[in-house]
Amino acid sequence: LGLHTISSVLILGMLSLRFAECKTTKVSLQYQAINCRKHSALLTDFGAVGDGNTSNTKAFKVAIHSLSKYAAHGGAQLIVPPGKWLTGSFNLTSSHFTLFLEKDAVILASQDESEWPQVSPLPSYGRGRDAYGGRFSSLIFGTNLTDVVITGNNGTIDGQGATWWKKYRSGGFLNVTRPYTIELMHSNQIQISNLTLINSPAWFVHPVYSSDILIQKLTILAPIDSPNTDGINPDSCTNTRIEDCFIVSGDNCIAVKSGWDQYGIRYGMPTKHLIIRRLTCISPDSATIALGSEMSGGIQDVRAEDITAINTQSGVRIKTAIGRGAFVKDIYARRLTFKTMKFVFWMSGAYGQHSDGGFDPNAIPQIQGINYKDVVAENVTISARLDGIANDPFTGICISNATFTLTAKPDELQWNCTNIQGVTSNVTPKPCSLLPEQKGVDCHFPEDKLPIDDVQLKTCYATIA
Ligand SMILES: *[C@@H]1O[C@H](CO)[C@@H](O)[C@H](O)[C@H]1NC(C)=O
Ligand SMILES: *[C@@H]1O[C@H](CO)[C@@H](O)[C@H](O)[C@H]1NC(C)=O
Ligand SMILES: *[C@@H]1O[C@H](CO)[C@@H](O)[C@H](O)[C@H]1NC(C)=O
Ligand SMILES: *[C@@H]1O[C@H](CO)[C@@H](O)[C@H](O)[C@H]1NC(C)=O
Ligand SMILES: *[C@@H]1O[C@H](CO)[C@@H](O)[C@H](O)[C@H]1NC(C)=O
Ligand SMILES: *[C@@H]1O[C@H](CO)[C@@H](O)[C@H](O)[C@H]1NC(C)=O
Ligand SMILES: *[C@@H]1O[C@H](CO)[C@@H](O)[C@H](O)[C@H]1NC(C)=O
Ligand SMILES: *[C@@H]1O[C@H](CO)[C@@H](O)[C@H](O)[C@H]1NC(C)=O
Repeated sequence: LGLHTISSVLILGMLSLRFAECKTTKVSLQYQAINCRKHSALLTDFGAVGDGNTSNTKAFKVAIHSLSKYAAHGGAQLIVPPGKWLTGSFNLTSSHFTLFLEKDAVILASQDESEWPQVSPLPSYGRGRDAYGGRFSSLIFGTNLTDVVITGNNGTIDGQGATWWKKYRSGGFLNVTRPYTIELMHSNQIQISNLTLINSPAWFVHPVYSSDILIQKLTILAPIDSPNTDGINPDSCTNTRIEDCFIVSGDNCIAVKSGWDQYGIRYGMPTKHLIIRRLTCISPDSATIALGSEMSGGIQDVRAEDITAINTQSGVRIKTAIGRGAFVKDIYARRLTFKTMKFVFWMSGAYGQHSDGGFDPNAIPQIQGINYKDVVAENVTISARLDGIANDPFTGICISNATFTLTAKPDELQWNCTNIQGVTSNVTPKPCSLLPEQKGVDCHFPEDKLPIDDVQLKTCYATIA
């Protein structure tokens, strides 16, 4: 190219830019994502009505189907504009796809059960979590996808869970499990970010059998007495990074899982290489971070740091039982700041809750290499309940630089330890004799980077004229 040609191209480019500016734009967005898309459309282009009353299930389906033709041609983004968009369950069906919720866009989950197809139980669970049998499909579901982004300018997804909770409590779902808000299965390169998720019928965000997952800047809110409203549940997933989330929930803020009893053992897919950082949690009846209880594919290499919890039942909790099999190992947590906690640390080796009577009584879980350091907890009732399994102690526990101050009415037994082995260093109040002080120990926290840490976001634009 000659210099002349380059400058002509530049001038032409500037002219067309100015021309574009004269037209009225319906939407002009800029945001950060793992990948940008060449094609954009608005939900309203497909007949959607944002009055909070009209069902848009068909509009979502038609929109997503119509945009799927771009999967191999630069990808597509579907933009949900401000408004209240009532919908039943819908599927993301193509790779290289972005669902973008503008500020003041609210996706409202339908309360009409006929808007929720039923799907099979997960193979690693053998049944639904609430009941034997199948499950209502999640509000937003996708399987076998690559490069999926669900993001926005902090738009909202409202699961309208109250009627589901009520029906669940009164035993109304005889053999079907409540839906989740977002479930992505057998997928990779997933981003879920910058959204507010409220009142899920059950779990909020459930990546399962998936890898390379980035979850950022989610505000997740459910009443503190709502049943099973876990915030984020990485389940048989590899290479996941969860950061900058604020979660108030009736169940665990984050629950790390990998299948249930004999079904999870058979499926054999662990959750590993998981980063959790800058999490704030409020959950008076549950854990900040739970590992299990469904851990039958194994959980390994979890790195949690800069975790804050307020008025929460426990900090990190390991839940397992005979029959679960597999392992929870190489768990690291540091810089934990807790205020008003029933337990700081809790490990339960007799959690119970079996999928069915067919669990293997010889399937003994191995709990090994659990490292907690740099912990400050205030207003604590019980410092730790660490309950291993007889003839199968939980080993390699290390707790260092941890200071707990107690509530006005603490339990007398601050460290309640059975069937565990490990060490402590510089921990107050004084730990149990099974965790003797070993001066100078600084519990390990890996400093190498996981591949998910290298994911760089791109600045994406969407303009619809
Ligand atoms: C809401 O939708 C239903 C059925 O789609 C309709 O019968 C009713 O009139 C609508 N209500 C309002 C306030 O638009
Ligand atoms: C979504 O896909 C699953 C199969 O993967 C299917 O069973 C379900 O009916 C689909 N949901 C909708 C709303 O079409
Ligand atoms: C989805 O991926 C899983 C795991 O790779 C595979 O077993 C299954 O057959 C795939 N399903 C479809 C519909 O391609
Ligand atoms: C997240 O949403 C906020 C509020 O709309 C917006 O200002 C911000 O740019 C968004 N962040 C990213 C990374 O897209
Ligand atoms: C998103 O909205 C929630 C609820 O209004 C707010 O608390 C949160 O700070 C917002 N997040 C971002 C990233 O703007
Ligand atoms: C102990 O933990 C506190 C709280 O995280 C931290 O500020 C302090 O630097 C730690 N001390 C050492 C010696 O690492
Ligand atoms: C301390 O914890 C107790 C429960 O053990 C709670 O009732 C009280 O409000 C908490 N105090 C503060 C100052 O948060
Ligand atoms: C100690 O923990 C066990 C469970 O491991 C529990 O059954 C027991 O009640 C606890 N003891 C006290 C004194 O809290």
